[in-house]
Parts: sequence; C-alpha cells; structure tokens
Amino acid sequence: MDQNQLKQQAAEEAVKFIKDSMFIGLGTGSTVFYLVEALGRRVKNEHLQITGVATSSRTAKQASALGIKMIDLNDAPELDLTIDGADEVDRNFQGIKGGGAAHLLEKIVALNSKRNIWIVDESKLVTNLGAFPLPLEVIPFGVERLYKRLAAKGLNPKFRLDENGQRLRTHNKNFVIDLHLKQIDDPHALADWLDHQTGIVEHGLFLDIVNQVVVGRENGVEVLDAGRG
Ligand code: A5P
Repeated sequence: MDQNQLKQQAAEEAVKFIKDSMFIGLGTGSTVFYLVEALGRRVKNEHLQITGVATSSRTAKQASALGIKMIDLNDAPELDLTIDGADEVDRNFQGIKGGGAAHLLEKIVALNSKRNIWIVDESKLVTNLGAFPLPLEVIPFGVERLYKRLAAKGLNPKFRLDENGQRLRTHNKNFVIDLHLKQIDDPHALADWLDHQTGIVEHGLFLDIVNQVVVGRENGVEVLDAGRG
C-alpha cells in the first residue's frame, strides 16, 4: 500500500467517530482530504446533520462542495470533536503540525474542541519529535530581528518559500519560519520559550492536545489512545 492509501484508511476509520448532530472541526492536509470525502458521503447517505468548522479555505471549499454545512468558529458552540492530520506524533502523543502552514487556525480550532483525533499514516509515528522541521507563523514586521534571535539560539531557522520562490504567506498574511532541529529533547521547554518570543504568532508544537491517533498501517488501522479522557 502506498502512503496515500494508508492515509485514506486512517481517515475512513476516523470518520466513524462522527455522530449525528455533532459540531466538527475539520483540519487541513492530504489526510484530511480523505476524511472530508468520507464525511461528505456519510452526510449524503445517512442524512446526517453535521456542522463543520474549517481550519483553512481549502477544507472549507471541499466540505461545502460536498454538502457539509460549514460555519465560522465565532458562530459555533464548543466543538464536539476535531479531526486533523499531523506531521509527527511521538510516543507521548505530542505532535508537530503546520507542514501545510495552517497550524495557527488548526490550533485555535483544536483548543476549542472537546476532543481531538489525529489521522496519520504510520510514517508519522516517531520516538522523538524534531526530524520534521518545526513551523512558526511569524509577523512580517521586524521579522529579520526575530530570525536572528532564532539563529542565535541555535534553532536553525529557514523561511518557507512558495512555488515562486517568495516568502510564503499564510491565511493571515504572515510568514512561516521552519526550525530545522533534527531532534527536540524537551518539547514543553521549547514551546514555552517560543510562546514568549514576540513576533511569533504560533508554533507547530501541539502538546497535550490529542485524545486519539488513528494510524493507517500496512497491516490495518490502529486506534491509539493518548489516555487524556
Ligand atoms: C497543516 O498545516 C498541517 O498541520 C497538516 O495537518 C499536516 O501537515 C498533515 O498533513 P498531511 O495530512 O498532508 O500529511
């Protein structure tokens, strides 16, 4: 099976966690693409009354086209469940997200949700976080100063570029800096430091957030419980 089939497998298992009348956060990325497809089919075939909140315009557009009712987070109650992808998940169920530059909206939606499920193929499971570059969404104003501060701390920053070689702009017109760290020994300490750097809007460390991880594996789907209730 190729990676996309494993992603699809995880997505199709995760869609079963969605029940009628739920308010659902929908993440972003190639794995979530399969989830939205599967949810669209369920909404149509089972006449489910699902209300979705998207973490990107890509997801919003796909979901609306499939007949899923989408609303703004500001108009929603606390979400019942958010299902999203991840770039890395470690053995303590901590994660890195933001490979698709959507981690700011994804974190806001995740933290306004009673439960969070991540859907991944097995290549995303790691012992320690950090091989995947850690994304930061940063304010363009004064960004060169911030960049120097990150470099001086040994965090190996690199601006993310778009397909035209320009600095990528996020949904909120900010830049993305990826930290090429190789290994993050203490994710909480790093998150705490990043949280205190003015100019960083949000980093891609998603700590103590996920409840379950649905993993697409060569030999079937596995649901891992993070033990967070
Ligand atoms: C988007 O910014 C990310 O957080 C995605 O959820 C993450 O990159 C996983 O993406 P894929 O499902 O495409 O691997």
